[in-house]
Amino acid sequence: MDKKVLIAGAVAIAAVAGGIFYLAMPQEGAPPVPVTSAMHSGADTAAAKAADEVIVPELSQLARSGEVAFNENCSACHGKNAAGTENGPPLIHNLYRPGHHSDAAIFGAAMNGVTAHHWRFGNMPPVEGITEAKLRWIVAYLREMQVANGVK
Ligand code: HEC
Repeated sequence: MDKKVLIAGAVAIAAVAGGIFYLAMPQEGAPPVPVTSAMHSGADTAAAKAADEVIVPELSQLARSGEVAFNENCSACHGKNAAGTENGPPLIHNLYRPGHHSDAAIFGAAMNGVTAHHWRFGNMPPVEGITEAKLRWIVAYLREMQVANGVK
């Protein structure tokens, strides 16, 4: 192959990589974007909603218990209606649909914490005092909220 062609190819690849890097950079004053937005752009069609835009459906009894447990243990970071805060991401978000973050991933996050990998909020510490029973309720709550908001 011609050396010039190789160089042109390398320049094109560098330009694309640079563009992705630029897009992944946080913008001043804008809410944090997923670090892996370039990788997840296909999946993340539903943008995060503000807490008062999240549709709260008629919750099952289990999910109502989950809402209470969520507000006690998770909403300081994940926000009212799981819409996110400056301390943590929205969980009513396509990134957290069941096919991408299973119920087991929700249990694991709360029990063991999470090393920051999708966002720029930092690590999630293990949630102190959380129990499996409460997590079952929280999972029911989050899934019912997700379905009502088109995340499935
Ligand atoms: C101190 C703040 C904080 C609290 C409290 C908190 N989280 Fe998180 N959580 C985070 C942050 C930050 C992330 C994003 C990590 C990343 O960059 O992917 C996260 C990510 C997650 C994830 C995604 C895990 C993954 O595998 O990517 C789930 C699920 C989750 N949290 C559930 C919960 C639940 C349920 C609770 C309450 C029992 C809770 N969180 C409490 C900060 C918190």
